[in-house]
Amino acid sequence: MEFDVKSGSPDKQRSACVVVGVYEPRRLSPAAELLDKACDGAISSLLRRGDLEGKLGQTLLLHALPNLQAERVLLVGCGKERELGDKQFRQVITKSAAVLNDTGAMEAVSYLTDLHVKSRGVYWKIRQAVEATLESRYSFDLLKSKKDEARRPLRKIVWNVPTRRELTVGETAIAHGVAIARGVELTRNVANLPPNICNPAYLADQGQTLAAQYPSLTTEVMGESQMAEIGMHSYLAVGRGSDNESMMTIIRHHGGKPGDKPLVLVGKGLTFDSGGISLKPGDGMDEMKYDMGGAAAVLGTMKTLAELQLPLNVIGVLAGCENMPDGNSYRPGDILTTLSGQTVEVLNTDAEGRLVLCDVLTYVERFEPELVIDLATLTGACVIALGKHASGLMSPNDSLANKLLDAGNESADRAWRLPLWDDYQEQLDSPFADMANIGGRPAGAITAGCFLARFTKKYTWAHLDIAGTAWRSGGKDKGATGRPVPLLSQFLLRRAGVAVDE
Ligand code: BES
Ligand code: MN
Ligand code: ZN
Repeated sequence: MEFDVKSGSPDKQRSACVVVGVYEPRRLSPAAELLDKACDGAISSLLRRGDLEGKLGQTLLLHALPNLQAERVLLVGCGKERELGDKQFRQVITKSAAVLNDTGAMEAVSYLTDLHVKSRGVYWKIRQAVEATLESRYSFDLLKSKKDEARRPLRKIVWNVPTRRELTVGETAIAHGVAIARGVELTRNVANLPPNICNPAYLADQGQTLAAQYPSLTTEVMGESQMAEIGMHSYLAVGRGSDNESMMTIIRHHGGKPGDKPLVLVGKGLTFDSGGISLKPGDGMDEMKYDMGGAAAVLGTMKTLAELQLPLNVIGVLAGCENMPDGNSYRPGDILTTLSGQTVEVLNTDAEGRLVLCDVLTYVERFEPELVIDLATLTGACVIALGKHASGLMSPNDSLANKLLDAGNESADRAWRLPLWDDYQEQLDSPFADMANIGGRPAGAITAGCFLARFTKKYTWAHLDIAGTAWRSGGKDKGATGRPVPLLSQFLLRRAGVAVDE
């Protein structure tokens, strides 16, 4: 799929298809207006006859309108003009991409990026349009024996910008959008794989493959024996019941100056979380193959970074592990000594993510990080609190928290902050060890964050609980979403000083 920008009048476009918006009720957007004038009111008379109301997501494909250079015109309903926000804009783009793909037009010129979206500029609209178009064309059919492919798939979309002055910003938006979409796609592909294929070694493999593709990346892998040597007993305990070796994959992007302190991303990589001895109920247990969504998002973000060649030093860690019941499994009652030296009483082997992460969070101290962000499908409680719309953000650092919230808003991949007050810490008290690994039902997402906070005191840190956002549950559109790759990418674009505010 190819994208380009240009600036020109819709009635002059020599194209297989020109795409324009229609607002509700039957109100032409400025681009549609121009087309209508050129073809002597053919469009407005169709609307008067009631063929298109302009409701969000409605479409009407017209052929061979008089006086136009384009073979087709696609009208896309945009809903009420004043209600066109981020979400509606993405829906309009997604719908038009789907219809275009079925028309037989192999290229199109789209004026949807001229639509007015509340407090969003050209850069934002084009980047979102690129991301949404690419995401809507995604399907995971790798493991289907028959794949259905479009007969004459859409190859190219040219987005219109109001004047020639916006061409450069439009090109930047395309470059950023494509790079982010590639990261999202990799994340989705890896996360959608079944746990009999995607195990910790597979994650390590993906890290190596990525490094082979981009000169700015290098990857190293630590197996169980190396982890044992330095004392990562908590991480190792979680993987002990599995025949798949635990592996920690470290991917470095060398984009900054050699002396620049690295930004570190840590992803929970439970390639399957059965709950272990505290076995989960059977219903929906298959979805625990997505418990490596954090690691997949780190992988995807490293790809985006490398694509954009951002001038930053970034280290991504995939904490690969599998949580299984077995004669050798760790059990409720066990007391583990973490890499930090702190001890943890295991009260539930299903609260395993924090046990893996705490050792990795201690390990990354040695990188002397500028900051550390961990991403984890950590708690069902976060899904209850925020649902699928926002990732749960926790951080003792207001400045970092606000930057991540902003990045979420800017990239339409939002997070919402939950407190990490000390008041919650007592829920983790244990009579036998420094702490327990669970804090009871109240504020389950927060007590998980509080647990991690005990291992991140030496640097600036934030935690994103992506249990509700990393995949869509049940239903026919079940599958990995690629979140929060857009949020993280936006954060890194800002950090690198190349984000665009238009
Ligand atoms: N991976 C799960 C969290 C999860 C649950 C993610 C549902 C997405 C959907 C995590 O390892 C887990 O099992 N957490 C427990 C913690 C509890 C035992 C304190 C949970 O949330 O139930
Ligand atoms: Mn679990
Ligand atoms: Zn888990």
